[in-house]
Amino acid sequence: MKTVWLDTIDSTNSEALRLLPELEGGTVLAARKQTAGRGQRGNTWFTEPGKNLTFSIVLKNLPLSAPEAIRLNYLTSVAVASFLEAKGVTADIKWPNDIYVRGRKICGMLLENTLGPDGKLLASVIGIGINVNQKEFPQLANATSLALCSGGEYGLEEALEDFLGIFDRLLPRLLSEELFAAYSERLYRKGVPARYHDLLTDREYQGVIEGVEPDGRLHIRNLDGGDCYYRFKEVSYLL
Ligand code: BTN
Repeated sequence: MKTVWLDTIDSTNSEALRLLPELEGGTVLAARKQTAGRGQRGNTWFTEPGKNLTFSIVLKNLPLSAPEAIRLNYLTSVAVASFLEAKGVTADIKWPNDIYVRGRKICGMLLENTLGPDGKLLASVIGIGINVNQKEFPQLANATSLALCSGGEYGLEEALEDFLGIFDRLLPRLLSEELFAAYSERLYRKGVPARYHDLLTDREYQGVIEGVEPDGRLHIRNLDGGDCYYRFKEVSYLL
């Protein structure tokens, strides 16, 4: 993989998408400061400049159909969790791809794929924000960082190389059962009764996460009876 560090950019995902035709697969764009970092659901991803990892990995020519693109979420989530574990921090994966430590978010991802006319994945831009050295999150009650969880301070360039080494080693296992198992076993709230908001019916209920289906849907058992299966944006976790 080839990493390019940018001092300031609006968003590494936006820059990677703009440059996509000329970027080689395996290029990583990393920013010391993002001025318009993008999150899921059109949210802004704001972190203190120079303290955290904000980067996008460009992958091309992947052996994936559109429905199999979910595998990239599994891979990236497991890679981030393994990276944190290597620093002594146990992390959970909040479906589909937020990374949590002791109930607080430490990392978010924004995967943006382009498809060819045959429905195969042409390219994927995997945007990752990992909170590393930031210790205060004034506007985010539910955020944490590697420094807060481990007490350490980390060089960002070295931390990114560590992460990319793990990601690269997992890449050949993209379609493996082993990767799916590694994702499933780290699932946040798995087996624990908790409250959920079903956005399809606008109802709240007490349920237990049973696991993730191979097609990526989250399976929650409603404790009042019945099984629910959700795609992205169809359910939210309540405190
Ligand atoms: C989320 O949890 O809402 C997703 C956050 C994704 C943030 C990363 S930071 C690097 C990359 N560039 C962006 O603009 N967003 C992603």
